[in-house]
Parts: sequence; C-alpha cells; structure tokens
Amino acid sequence: MTAAARNTAPPGPAAEAPAPPLGLLAELTHRCPLQCPYCSNPIALERRSAELDTATWQRVLSEAAALGVLQLHLSGGEPTARPDLPEILRHAAAEGLYSNLITAGVGVTPGRLEELAAAGLDHVQLSFQGALPDTTDRVSGLPGAHGRKRAFAAEVRRLGLPLTLNAVIHRANIEEIPALLELALELGAGRVEIAHAQYYGWALRNRAALMPRREQVLEAARRVEEARVRLKGRLVIDAVVPDYFARRPKACMNGWGRQSLNVTPSGRVLPCHAAETIPGLEFWNVRDRGLAEIWYRSPAFQAFRGTAWMPEPCRSCERREIDWGGCRCQALAIAGDAAATDPACEKSPLHSRLLELAESESRAEQDYRYRGYAAAGPPGAPR
Ligand code: SF4
Ligand code: FES
Repeated sequence: MTAAARNTAPPGPAAEAPAPPLGLLAELTHRCPLQCPYCSNPIALERRSAELDTATWQRVLSEAAALGVLQLHLSGGEPTARPDLPEILRHAAAEGLYSNLITAGVGVTPGRLEELAAAGLDHVQLSFQGALPDTTDRVSGLPGAHGRKRAFAAEVRRLGLPLTLNAVIHRANIEEIPALLELALELGAGRVEIAHAQYYGWALRNRAALMPRREQVLEAARRVEEARVRLKGRLVIDAVVPDYFARRPKACMNGWGRQSLNVTPSGRVLPCHAAETIPGLEFWNVRDRGLAEIWYRSPAFQAFRGTAWMPEPCRSCERREIDWGGCRCQALAIAGDAAATDPACEKSPLHSRLLELAESESRAEQDYRYRGYAAAGPPGAPR
C-alpha cells in the first residue's frame, strides 16, 4: 500500500470526527544515558533491535504532515542516540514540520549539534534534574551531568537555536525552582517547563521517595506566580501543578486523542506516553497501518476520546470539556479503573484517600530505585 493510500482514513459515518492532531511525539529510542527515578517510559523498555528504521520514521513523518500535525517532538530515551537523527530531521523539515529535540544533552558533541542544526532542527528542549550540580548528578545517576548540560546549552545558544529548559519537580528539587529560573536566564533559555512528577510506570515505584510535602508545593506555587510577573517578557514559565495536592485534575494531554499522539520506538501509536499501563487497550502500529487510520479509527484512541465514555460525576459536570475527566493513567494507578473519575478531583470518592496517601508518602524515607539504562552505555552504543 502506498503512503498516500495508507493515510486516507476518513472517520466512520457514525463517529463524530475529531480534529486532526497538532503534535506528534516520536519516541525514537528507549536507550538513555541517565537513570532518573521518575522516568515516564514503560517498565519494559524496547530494545534497539525492535526500533523502527529510518525509512519507516520518514514515512510516518510524511503521514503526520498530511494528517495536519504541525509540531514534531523528538524524544526517547535519548533521541540523539539514533545515528540517523539528521536524516529524520531533514525529512521533517522537508515536510514542513517544526522540530523540537527533547534531550538530556550529555552525550552530544558540538559537531553533532551543528549537524542537527544544519539538518533543520528548529528548537531544543534540555532537561535539568536540578539547579545545582549535586542535585542533577544525583537524580540523573550520572556524575558530571550538570556540567555537560551547561556546556551543551551554551552550544545551543551559540548556534542561535531557541532553548527551553525543562525540569521534573519532586521533593529533592522543588526548593530549587527559583534557582532553576535563574539558571534558565543565565543559559539564554526563552522558556522553562516545570512539571511535577507523574506517578505511573517507573515513577510509581519511587513515589514515596519523590512526593513533595504540601508546604513545599504551596511555597513553590507562590514562587512561580511571583516569578511569572517579575520575568514577564524575559522568560515564559509553564508550570504543571502536582495532582495529588490539587482539587481539580489537569486536562491530561489536553484530552485523550484530542491534540497529539505518541509513536513508540517500535511503532505502536499511543494517546499518551503512559497509555500502555492500561490493560485491555489495543494499540495499532505504524508498520501495519497509516497514521490517519490510527488517529481516527484505532480502538485505543476511541476508548476515552470526548465525553461519551465518562461516568458520573464527570458526565454531568460543567468541567467535562475543560479537564476532559483528568488523567486516565492516574485513574488506573489509584482507582484500579482507567474509566473512573480521576482521584485528583475532589468529586471523586477516592480524593481523600489520595490526599492521605500524598501526605503520608511525602514524609516517608525511601532511596531511589534508578532505571537501568546506564548499562546501555553512551548514546549510540549498541544494546
Ligand atoms: Fe473534571 Fe470529572 Fe472532576 Fe468534573 S467531575 S472536575 S469533569 S474530573
Ligand atoms: Fe495517560 Fe494522563 S498520562 S492519560
């Protein structure tokens, strides 16, 4: 079947047609030099031998552009571990996709970054595990990581690429948020993403080690609001508050199957990065089907799209098209049912249990269980 034929899949007559997606997250590989305890990748990582090849990724990007995708997020693991990244980027640029490289920035030489920029890379998003060297090195499990990230950021700016810093926030670094904002300014970033750890997959195993205390969360929120006013026009601050201490859930993924899709290293297409934690969902693969057919027709995307799947109290709630019922993966992790009301919502019968759990775990003492990626060696090493 040709790419064009694979990509023509009008929605069925009975279904209400969803809008096309805006963004595609391409998880090029699960290989990674860091070992973060809050890793959002699945418990079972995909091996290099299972990864899509260059031509398949290029075909997927063509299908994405034809479908209406505007933004391509190249992620992993560590996407720079793929030797063919320049070819993938060149293809994305030719298809008119805006490309964002989401990287740990620890294994990328200046020459390699120049090659990526020449191939059409539009934007770099660099992770920091803390504002202080000790924090970054300890949380990432990689001594010297902080210094390498700083050097990488300098190269990004030297090449004139726009830079975003992102940090996953938890008990060990939540008090470094003001310093993270200063670091972003110092490194020439135009934007910072501060997202509290989400507790599913590997992070669920470390929840008691990661959960911040309520007073830390409140103080962090106050500091972020103050900084937003003070730094307006200099630094854009995107902050995602921690669900466990909230009254209402976040609109996870801006709604299931509404704006974006994830393609795993081996080609399964997911509505969110943690969707594979939900048992019983059927994920279609780009090796077998076109991206448009998957977006419009695959069972996994239809499962929680829109509002028809919602139970009460969501079904009759005035916020059902604001937060889209919150997070399905969190509902599964806490309620044991992906179709339940997100326990982060105070209308959920499990909300008080969630708060108690957060309070008690925020005071627990537990060492990190690091991910085992480091055995994979530096980016690009065979695995
Ligand atoms: Fe959102 Fe459902 Fe709570 Fe309403 S009841 S606020 S839709 S999670
Ligand atoms: Fe899967 Fe929120 S992470 S729906």
